[in-house]
Amino acid sequence: ALFAAVPAAYAEPIVIAHRGASGYLPEHTLAAYELAIRMGADYIEPDLQLTKDNQLVAMHDDTLNRTTNVASLYQARNGGYKVSDFTLAEIRTLTVVPPAGGTAQNTYPGFTPLNAELRVPTFQEVISLAKQQSQAIGRTVGIYPEAKQADPVMEDAILSTLAANGYGSQNDQVYIQSFSDTTLRSIDTKQTAQNADMRLVLLGAALTGGDGIARVGVFGASGGVTMLTLADVASFADGIGMVINYAAAPLSKAFIDQAHAAGLEVHGWTFGQADPVLAAAEYKKYLEMGMDGVFANYPDLAVAGVQAF
Ligand code: G3P
Ligand code: CA
Repeated sequence: ALFAAVPAAYAEPIVIAHRGASGYLPEHTLAAYELAIRMGADYIEPDLQLTKDNQLVAMHDDTLNRTTNVASLYQARNGGYKVSDFTLAEIRTLTVVPPAGGTAQNTYPGFTPLNAELRVPTFQEVISLAKQQSQAIGRTVGIYPEAKQADPVMEDAILSTLAANGYGSQNDQVYIQSFSDTTLRSIDTKQTAQNADMRLVLLGAALTGGDGIARVGVFGASGGVTMLTLADVASFADGIGMVINYAAAPLSKAFIDQAHAAGLEVHGWTFGQADPVLAAAEYKKYLEMGMDGVFANYPDLAVAGVQAF
């Protein structure tokens, strides 16, 4: 079958479609998210940027030129193509393209998306797709938005958009993620004031010093790394999203055990192995360590890895 038979709902570990099924279709398009859902992903992951008119759009970079045809349609502004220099109306005229050097194509064999336009979607459109698909396939599709800017305007926009769509509790299938602990501490405070408590995930690196105590390395804007204790992270977040690809920050069972003891879920990024045999071995390795969720570019391979576990 083209798509794997998918159970109605998964317990952990969860499959998070990294930028949608971004190994197959242009990242952060509605088609890429829908394909991921059809492949059985539990969550879809929109990275979020703010437009010039403060609208949230799904895009990884803070510039438009890697993933769209902006340079063929517009002159550079302020020396470049920052998302924040273009209005939503302008961004809606762009076509998303498969990034150079990747495996994504404009179409996926046998798959006809509901919306094949390959435009930059708004956060609202991503949520609406998740809700529509949840109805259509009879299981709840979660959303895992990432605040890509440490910006209170973005924090407020994310929280208000989620609230407007009926999300607000730990029981909702929502994780809000950020590389910035400042942003997550602020969102935590704002949620408390708004009687909301959606789960928060801090992104970083798994670092263990000579003392054997696990810490989360948070990447600073200027390249430095700040070390946070797991107890500190647990004071404002519900989970951690750890890089798996950096040799200097290998994730171990001992680290995951310490995170669990601190009350934190552990998700890992990025599972980008396209070869099914190698991918199966990688999922087995991390799931056996106790990882609770995987960010995957090829969600079908992640679903197979979880099902085999
Ligand atoms: O959000 C987890 C992972 O996606 C972080 O990497 O750069 O793809 O957003 P990035
Ligand atoms: Ca991300």
